[in-house]
Amino acid sequence: MRSVACALVMMVASGWAGAGDSSPVVAAVATSEPAPMLAATPPMGWSTWNHYAHAISDKLIREQADAMVASGMKDAGYVYVHIDGGWEGQRDAKGELHPLPSFPDMKALGDYIHSKGLKFGLYSGPGPVTCAGAEASYGHEEQDAAMFASWGVDYLKYDLCSYRIIMQQESGGDVTKAEAMMRAAYERMHQAILKTGRPMVFSMCQYGLGEVWTWGPQVGGNMWRTSNDINDTYERMMSIADRQARLARYAGPGHWNDPDFLEVGNGGMSYEEQKTHFSMWALMAAPLMAGNDLTRMSEETKSILLNREVIAVDQDALGKAGDRVWQEGPMEVWAKPLSGGEVAVGLVNQTTSATHVTVRLADAGINGDAQARDLWEHKDLGVVRGSYTAEVPGHGVVMVRLKPQSSVTRSR
Ligand code: GAL
Repeated sequence: MRSVACALVMMVASGWAGAGDSSPVVAAVATSEPAPMLAATPPMGWSTWNHYAHAISDKLIREQADAMVASGMKDAGYVYVHIDGGWEGQRDAKGELHPLPSFPDMKALGDYIHSKGLKFGLYSGPGPVTCAGAEASYGHEEQDAAMFASWGVDYLKYDLCSYRIIMQQESGGDVTKAEAMMRAAYERMHQAILKTGRPMVFSMCQYGLGEVWTWGPQVGGNMWRTSNDINDTYERMMSIADRQARLARYAGPGHWNDPDFLEVGNGGMSYEEQKTHFSMWALMAAPLMAGNDLTRMSEETKSILLNREVIAVDQDALGKAGDRVWQEGPMEVWAKPLSGGEVAVGLVNQTTSATHVTVRLADAGINGDAQARDLWEHKDLGVVRGSYTAEVPGHGVVMVRLKPQSSVTRSR
């Protein structure tokens, strides 16, 4: 295990110590080399759940990790290989949790993932059992966290599931008490992770309960689900996106709103719908966790997941999430501030036929003219003045990047 000082540095770096905390402990380590911030930009990777559910194994994970490298996903920024529910076996007499036989050696699997330059993600929860009835970490938080660290885990998704029943029973229906219990349960695992000395992205999955965005960072959350599960339909995907309007201000470097894993490439949505899905997630600065089979990706799927111009919007160093800035029925405009004063804009059409959508530059926070670039057509559009109108396909999006003209240019 790493030294206590090292762990303390990470506690500071992960935001555990309150802002302005001037305790001697914090002061003592302030001069040490700071650990890089976890999730400084929204985490990118791949997870088992959306495509494979419980049909997972060591072999599958290795194949997907290989494909993540071979397909160019790794080079585009996808790094976490995440095993969701379906790996957990039984606890032994010492309370140690063993994986299912389909995962014969988790440490070796973690080493394999790391050997590819990728990072290892895993899944558990604060209740006695997961949503699928498998063992979870209730009463074993420190033991499990230490084991995850020994396997080389870099990312833990922690799913509320059965702890919700404990909350209901022990709070006697008192909502405030139940929410306090929920916060404490996440804090318990956060502390257990810190104690291991191994940095792990802490991914909170409690479906947005108790407005988690207002307190997630205080219990170590690097990301938190804002809703119930996504599925592979336009309607569900878009309803999750719409529900995230007005949550932008809660996201930032180290702590992100999470509208769930991606369904791109899973077959349920049209090309235009999948482009909308990916654009919306990038505009919201959402974690980009692919959820498809990386070993068999069509050219269309690759053109979406590997669109570096859209990924750059998601990963922009300014770390500001975008928000809805205009809506008229099924027509919407979303805008995300980028570094250097640029702004990414999504023109969204939720009807089934093509229609024109307009963004007023002022609504996107731009006063004056701007250079525009279409991020799906990969084409410069020239200077736009006052507003920009595009024809948007049914269920589609037009996504542009706007660069304000300098005042000198403007006055010409
Ligand atoms: C749900 C969770 C899903 C997935 C699933 C596994 O509660 O929201 O994302 O993790 O459990 O059983």
